[in-house]
Amino acid sequence: MAARPALLGQVPIFEKKVPVAKPVVPEFDGLAQELTQILQSGMLSKGPHVSAFEQMVAEHLAVKHALAVSSCTSGLMLTYQALGLTGDVVVPSFTFMATVGALRWAGLRPIFADVDLATTNLDPSAAEAAITPETSAIVAVHNFGNPADLEELQQVADKHQVHLILDSAHGFGSLYKGEAVGPQGAAHVFSLSATKLLVVGEGGIVATNDDEIAARIRIGREFGNCGDYDSVVPGINARMPEFNALLGQHGLRRLESAVRHRNSIADLYRAQLSFLPGIGFQKVRDGNRSCYKDFSITIDADAFGLTRDELNAALTAENIETRKYYDPPVHRQIAYRRFAPPDLPLPNTELLASRILNLPIWSDMDPSVASGVCVAIERAHEFADAVRAEIKQETLV
Ligand SMILES: Cc1ncc(COP(=O)(O)O)c(C=O)c1O
Repeated sequence: MAARPALLGQVPIFEKKVPVAKPVVPEFDGLAQELTQILQSGMLSKGPHVSAFEQMVAEHLAVKHALAVSSCTSGLMLTYQALGLTGDVVVPSFTFMATVGALRWAGLRPIFADVDLATTNLDPSAAEAAITPETSAIVAVHNFGNPADLEELQQVADKHQVHLILDSAHGFGSLYKGEAVGPQGAAHVFSLSATKLLVVGEGGIVATNDDEIAARIRIGREFGNCGDYDSVVPGINARMPEFNALLGQHGLRRLESAVRHRNSIADLYRAQLSFLPGIGFQKVRDGNRSCYKDFSITIDADAFGLTRDELNAALTAENIETRKYYDPPVHRQIAYRRFAPPDLPLPNTELLASRILNLPIWSDMDPSVASGVCVAIERAHEFADAVRAEIKQETLV
């Protein structure tokens, strides 16, 4: 029998808080020389490190153009603009708010479509059903690093003559049918922020094989200025600083080992949690590889004995940080609910939002930490009735 959970007064499994994510960055000594060179050159932006990083990424992803930008969000805004999108864009609601926020900044109307319950990614048939006469694009997401159904989505896009764009914020290190995600669709837009596998601080990459789109993004990230100060489009400043590009070059060399390590942590979680009733795992299709930007589980309260929120409270008492990505889903968020008719059927999105829990994972996580998280989940399940009663009691006080 497991020891009683911390929520019932026992010592927490972890003495210090276990974060849900942690950036893994190079040691200072390995960067010192190049950092000094950047400082001495006085060229903090638009210098050789951005160009070198772009070239490395283009080779890594096997795309013609990799454009460094200030964030995935600005990259999405520029991509939507560069494609000349108008009217409606089909998008999942089960995504991070930035996917949809960038659409609104480009003056587009989100049409929310449901996701596949098993993969958590945009369901190609739901995307097709959501297409309106005003639709100009489909935006899909590789949720938590799990590759979207790219071929099926491309078929829908081709049939209806709309663009396919990938919000690939979580996608560095993910493989679709054995190849890096990036060359598929009109463009892939990646994030390089602190919770990702490839971390530069803040930053993004737009990957595309289309010369025209690349040229427009180059201008768009420079205020819309082609160089003669007579702006051709209303652009923004979305440049990546040299320091960030330097971190990116070092990080890219370690990406593969980061993905492998995260996959081993994911295997450990699956193996240790799979015997507990009511826990579901994200399905990664055969032939694909998730980079496991996040490791998510779902909780079926009837089978597990606790709701997702009750389990979350038990884990918090054990000093384990979690996330509920994405609850609330975007179509229920204040800024976007006006784009969701009240009778909009998104049953899988709603179910996932109520059941999902993201557990700690990072690129050099000690396996003993993941094991400790599993023990915490196991003991919460074993003492489910007492845990629920304690939470009820605390709520009443
Ligand atoms: C799916 C998704 N899209 C876009 C973003 C925004 O990325 P950034 O912070 O680089 O703008 C995020 C952030 O994590 C995300 O999860």
